[in-house]
Amino acid sequence: PPISPMAIAFDAENLTLSPAGPTLTRRMSDLEGLFLDTDAWAAAVHGDDPVVYTVTSSPVPEIDRELPQSITTIMPGHTSGELWMTKGHQHPDHQGEIYLALKGRGGLLMFDGERTEWLDMLPGTIGYIPPGWAHRSVNTGDEPYAFLAVYPGGAGHDYGWVLEHGMGSRAYRATDGVDLRPYSAPDP
Ligand code: 6PG
Ligand code: NI
Repeated sequence: PPISPMAIAFDAENLTLSPAGPTLTRRMSDLEGLFLDTDAWAAAVHGDDPVVYTVTSSPVPEIDRELPQSITTIMPGHTSGELWMTKGHQHPDHQGEIYLALKGRGGLLMFDGERTEWLDMLPGTIGYIPPGWAHRSVNTGDEPYAFLAVYPGGAGHDYGWVLEHGMGSRAYRATDGVDLRPYSAPDP
């Protein structure tokens, strides 16, 4: 059935939506092949396999012409110094997207296959992802980093593209924010 106009309550303290759609939980084991230090990644998986981030969707369906939203919350942490992050993806038909930072400190890493860009994301920052730029979010602080994403319902998620091409840079913790290093493939 078509979706009717609706208000969705956003709880800024608990970072929840009401009504909400599905929530996705990504643990360390879901991030295979992404961190540079494969041994450190595997040790974390075989330890307590921590939750790295959650994505709570609004009830708006992910279908063409709809405009769904979601809230991603990334836990603070690092794997051998590499800051905890989302998997990162490309939209198969290269639709654009917007992010609004809500809480904590983070960054938006984008890569178009040649150029890599980093945006500092502090509460109130709107990050624009142009068509054709793969995108990954990173927690650069010591509390959870949360942002709202608004994207075309048919955008989809191509995770294989990032596994194949990387993101141009890797984000490491530094005393004042982030240390961006050139991308290199994970240790075999
Ligand atoms: C999207 C958004 C965003 C993203 C999450 C989790 O296109 O839906 O970019 O909601 O999916 O932040 O990141 P990953 O999808 O890369 O795991
Ligand atoms: Ni996206």
